[in-house]
Amino acid sequence: MKNLVLYFSVYKTTKAVATEIAKQTDADLVEIEPVKPYDGDRSHYNALARYAKKEHDEDMRPAIKNKIDISGYDNIFIGYPMWWYTFPMIIYTLFDELDFSGKTIIPFNTHMGSSDGGTYRTIAELEPNAKILKGLPIEMSEAERGCADKVEKWLNSLKVKERSA
Ligand SMILES: Cc1cc2nc3c(=O)[nH]c(=O)nc-3n(C[C@H](O)[C@H](O)[C@H](O)COP(=O)(O)O)c2cc1C
Repeated sequence: MKNLVLYFSVYKTTKAVATEIAKQTDADLVEIEPVKPYDGDRSHYNALARYAKKEHDEDMRPAIKNKIDISGYDNIFIGYPMWWYTFPMIIYTLFDELDFSGKTIIPFNTHMGSSDGGTYRTIAELEPNAKILKGLPIEMSEAERGCADKVEKWLNSLKVKERSA
């Protein structure tokens, strides 16, 4: 059965990590697309930060535009950037809408110092019937320089690299 890499990314850092994981695991790659797009222009960071804070403080559930079907996958990588010390609220939407019972979730994220910020534990709380494997936090600049080696070491430690029959 194939692996799936699901990711959300605005500045494309998490996308780069997701693409590398998909390449190394022969996985399908699916972006979590918001109905209301976020501004990916880094010079507008302050406005995005303010907006993301509002989403967080109001416990919003930003809608996902694309239909995400996880039924055919056992191993599902889920990647996101850290936003305000947790994952973006659209990741809560994902866990609200999809049932990961019986699946194996392998989280990864990019950040600028917060590491995973406890989000891997949050995923375990939100999806008690899924198995959660050890995640991979990658600092933004490191992800942008190229993370193939780090991803490879991590995947080797998880032993999920090969596609199972
Ligand atoms: C709205 C917003 C909030 C952020 N909050 C945090 C944070 O709390 N901790 C942290 O380490 N990095 C934080 N960052 C930095 C991002 O996690 C980092 O830039 C990430 O690599 C961006 O991923 P992307 O390129 O996939 O969008 C924040 C960035 C944005 C835009």
